Amino acid sequence: MNPESQNTIDSTNSNTIFMVWNFKENLQVKAVFSNLCKLLINLNNSAAIRFPVSRASCVMGIGYQAWLQLGLPAPLPKELVDFVPVTGEKHTAVSSRGDLHFHIRADSQSICYDMASEITDLLSPVAVSVEEIQGFRYWDGRSILGFVDGTENPNGQEREFFGIIGDDDPDYKGGSYLFVQKYIHDLAAWKGLSVGDQEKVIGRSKSNDIEMEDDVKPANSHIALANVGDDLKIVRDNMPFGNMSTNEMGTYFIAYASKFSTVQKMLSNMFIGAPIGNYDRILDFSTPKTGSLFFVPTVDMMDEFSSG
Ligand code: HEM
Repeated sequence: MNPESQNTIDSTNSNTIFMVWNFKENLQVKAVFSNLCKLLINLNNSAAIRFPVSRASCVMGIGYQAWLQLGLPAPLPKELVDFVPVTGEKHTAVSSRGDLHFHIRADSQSICYDMASEITDLLSPVAVSVEEIQGFRYWDGRSILGFVDGTENPNGQEREFFGIIGDDDPDYKGGSYLFVQKYIHDLAAWKGLSVGDQEKVIGRSKSNDIEMEDDVKPANSHIALANVGDDLKIVRDNMPFGNMSTNEMGTYFIAYASKFSTVQKMLSNMFIGAPIGNYDRILDFSTPKTGSLFFVPTVDMMDEFSSG
């Protein structure tokens, strides 16, 4: 029987809370981590019974340093490392520390809030919450830039093929690589572009979400550079967020992948450019403030971790 994956490749829901937690120094964290694994299995099972139509779930990812600190199995998942920044001539995909990542999804913010609150009560004595983003589904699945986000995501069996580790790494089959970046957009500059120029940045039409023909799609458009081939895909579940008082409008970029190298290829194309210097024009309006890689264990692995 294949190991049971967490709800990694579930489709987008209306409400999301993303949280990143880092362990405090010099504390014994193993016992709390065991209880955390138990809690997450409980929260997901309970949500399935209590809110069957809400598609509520919480997925946990573990960073490289945390994996070592927790003494989790070696050899590690093949591609689990500290994310190395990707530096282009003009823009950089920065790297930020993240020990644990939580991706909470539901059709109601109340469910997300309750799950986040249970996790916080348990983790607070040994860890600090360094990031919390409350993402929401914007009009017909659009990013805060106004373009539909997610159209070319894999569907059906392709989601599992591209989102979940297979026989390449048998010890970690059923797990996933999870990569996240918090982007802040310069919306004033973006709104200063005509719709036609915005469409050239993305490579699709704005209102109807139709892909440009190859002979008119600019080589530095987002989709021209992010598309690295039909056999190299990832499962994205980006969410917009916005805070008027701090003027922080953004996209929380989140991707699950069977191979982290696929994400790296996309980042290289976007930030360094293909060819070098032909970087992704979306970056002139979008700055990544964080960037972290995590491994998402299977439910079976979490069950083992929960017994210490
Ligand atoms: C500033 C943050 C980002 C925003 C607002 C954004 C938005 C979009 C939009 C609107 C599309 C077109 C519709 C679709 O197919 O989903 C798209 C496509 C795509 N994006 Fe992004 N994206 C962002 C960052 C990234 C990053 C960092 C990656 C990869 C590391 C990425 C990978 C992709 C891929 C693979 C596609 C599909 C390309 C295709 O095959 O047509 N995106 N994105």
